[in-house]
Amino acid sequence: MITINEHYLKLQSSYLFSDIARRVKRFQETHPEKEIIKLGIGDVTRPLPPACITAFHAAIDEMAIEDSFRGYGPEQGYAFLREAIAKNDFAARGADISADEIFISDGAKCDTGNFQELFSNDIKIAIPDPVYPVYLDTNVMAGRTGDFENGRYKGIVYLDSTRENNFVPTLPNEKVDLIYLCFPNNPTGSTITKEELKTWVDYARDNKALILFDAAYEVFVRDESLPKSIYEVEGACEVAIEFRSFSKSAGFTGTRCAFTVVPKQCMVYDRQGCAHSLHGLWNRRHCTKFNGVSYPVQRAAEAVYSEQGKKQVRELRDYYMRNADLICREISDLGYDFVGGTNSPYIWIDGKQDSWQFFDQLLNDAGVVCTPGAGFGSCGEGYIRLSAFNSFENVERAMQRIRLALK
Ligand code: MLT
Repeated sequence: MITINEHYLKLQSSYLFSDIARRVKRFQETHPEKEIIKLGIGDVTRPLPPACITAFHAAIDEMAIEDSFRGYGPEQGYAFLREAIAKNDFAARGADISADEIFISDGAKCDTGNFQELFSNDIKIAIPDPVYPVYLDTNVMAGRTGDFENGRYKGIVYLDSTRENNFVPTLPNEKVDLIYLCFPNNPTGSTITKEELKTWVDYARDNKALILFDAAYEVFVRDESLPKSIYEVEGACEVAIEFRSFSKSAGFTGTRCAFTVVPKQCMVYDRQGCAHSLHGLWNRRHCTKFNGVSYPVQRAAEAVYSEQGKKQVRELRDYYMRNADLICREISDLGYDFVGGTNSPYIWIDGKQDSWQFFDQLLNDAGVVCTPGAGFGSCGEGYIRLSAFNSFENVERAMQRIRLALK
């Protein structure tokens, strides 16, 4: 008899964004005359930067010729891309990361979800609330939690992110082994200072803990005093893994390319307390389960670091941030409290009502899709998230409709 991994039965019935997509589809079927504007899932709408398109085409042409055709590439990614990342994303900001500490992948979602495989099942995990659901769900699937009761999984140390702490969680009162952090934050759009991040790095160093730092939204940091990478903090190379993505920075949500940084100094311990290199373990896993990102996609990603590419990525960022600025102005005019939208494409709005009810109101009365805060955890109750990823014209229309619906 084939038996189930019963930990899957603890999961909430469906993944948040699939649930929302289903509700929107149902609404569209029953209201075919209503035009919907989507400010829900953070999916980009602008085309790839021209520099990426040119590189993409050139790489496809190489694949058409026997002499330049390529079969399997290195599982960890081509050196040309890993070197460009090390130089531009890390060395340029004073972070000492070498090319061979960078693992190219097809998405930060997969990497943040898969990384927990390297750890034993009895570690204590600290997870922010609200949180990008992947961190939590993948640990539930692996059996690292108890049942879901009163909106929370037993066995998890939740790090509340609330108005009181400016949506930046503080150190837990109990000892934890694995800590998930995401800045600029999804879903709240909050940012962390270098000093605040240092308290986490120091905690991890003192406790032989590890930080999984999701920096998928770093491109939206406009305030130069804020860190873009955890490795800008001294000592972080010993205790932190960083996840990055080309999805939001260069419009690769459909093209798929991301990377994970695993510094060679990062250690994990066996039951006898002997240290093992996380780099070696992740490399082992990566080679066993992954065959690399396609050559043309890696060439397209490399073009992000050309002079033209850098300029075009900045323009893309500025385009979405103009949307974010407009959303912030309108929401503020309507008298709602919010955070985010300054160094982040997400705006986290205190709706002062049940967040699914607010979601329904915006969908029914304004034809606008948002993401209900409760879907990100119990501290998200009462909030909704608006995303700046859409055309400026659609964001303008969405905000006009929201104004009419909420006045
Ligand atoms: C989000 O809307 O939170 C993100 O788009 C989800 C993701 O990147 O997987």
